[in-house]
Amino acid sequence: MSSFVLQTTNQSLAHRLWRYATASRDGTFFYPEGICEEAVEVAPCTDKVGPCLVLFSGCKLAPAELNTWIYAGASSNAAVVRAYWLGASPGKACSREDLVAQLRAAGPPPDGGALRLQCAPRSLEGWLADQLGPAFNLQPVKPTWVLNVVCMAADGGEDEDGQQQREQREHRRRPRILYSLQPASSLYNYSPVKDKRIPDQLSKAAGKLAEALQACGLQLTSGVAVDLGAAPGGWTHVLAQHARRVIAVDPAPLDPRALACPAVTHLACKAEDAVDAIKGMVGEAGVDLLVSDVNRHPSQVIGMMRPLLPLLHPGAAVILTLKFHGKSAGREAEFERRLADELGPEFGGVRLLWLLANTQHEQTCVAWKAAAPPAGAAANGVAAGL
Ligand SMILES: C[S@@+](CC[C@H](N)C(=O)[O-])C[C@H]1O[C@@H](n2cnc3c(N)ncnc32)[C@H](O)[C@@H]1O
Repeated sequence: MSSFVLQTTNQSLAHRLWRYATASRDGTFFYPEGICEEAVEVAPCTDKVGPCLVLFSGCKLAPAELNTWIYAGASSNAAVVRAYWLGASPGKACSREDLVAQLRAAGPPPDGGALRLQCAPRSLEGWLADQLGPAFNLQPVKPTWVLNVVCMAADGGEDEDGQQQREQREHRRRPRILYSLQPASSLYNYSPVKDKRIPDQLSKAAGKLAEALQACGLQLTSGVAVDLGAAPGGWTHVLAQHARRVIAVDPAPLDPRALACPAVTHLACKAEDAVDAIKGMVGEAGVDLLVSDVNRHPSQVIGMMRPLLPLLHPGAAVILTLKFHGKSAGREAEFERRLADELGPEFGGVRLLWLLANTQHEQTCVAWKAAAPPAGAAANGVAAGL
């Protein structure tokens, strides 16, 4: 069992990675199996300002498996800037000085190979390089080894702290710095994986649907999907790679790359005017997934979807983007309740996902149609977690 730390481009993304980890027990498949037993967000939750770090422990994956997942993920590739692999038993230091003392005592890597420093915060790298001196063969490129160092505090140092705070911290005996010497092959964003795999996405919006499908583990291989407000076609293009048939509804034109997918049919009209045509097209087969990314109030979007809801199979899903006035964080329970009321008792589960691909002002609603109205339907759908 190993530990690792993921660093993101902003604190809100670190918060969302942490939320995924806590929600994974509740049917979210965003992470690969065995990724961790526990995740801890290092910093104030949801703040923009922070060290942007999440510590994962109890990981059963190998470093290469973790790196492959980061590269291939719908949004993880963009959100994660660094991964610090800490191995099974990371070293622990109480201060920068303690870290230097421990590293000097351990000495350079056994083969004298080139060593790259990878520290959070980055500003520690220069300071640490000066402290370690020429006895360590420090090389930022083509290293044999990487020394991962993560300060579990925003400033990463004790220099500016008062004596009293330092004493209190030492009293609590919480090591503030984790570090680990690893072979360079454990390094994220480094050879041999030179080419970052950018998923084949037609628009930025496409990342939202790709991530929602990944997060919910939705498989549609033989299904029918209906995309309301489809233009220019990012979501339609993603759906065409998953579903047998995609009905894309939007008065605006679709990108030729989406139109070129054999699974795609474009109805160039408003969703309200497309109901009969959709019914005729899907017939008895029904609909497996109904999605909407229309930029309107959630009640209006659900009103637009309502005539189509009877076409959904039991177990079929609805995915829609919710635009919030103001920040979305912390308003999930209220909106889950409101959406569950709007969708009606047939929808047994309503969840809001704050995707990595969502902005601060939007979240993604996922709901499943139940086989029959669930018992206690009034309490329908208020799901914990994401
Ligand atoms: C944000 S864009 C959708 C982007 C799309 N998901 C993508 O990935 O390319 C919103 C779209 O909703 C469409 N729209 C707005 N009201 C609509 C309605 N009543 N029926 C169908 N489409 C509508 C607009 O024409 C616009 O193209």
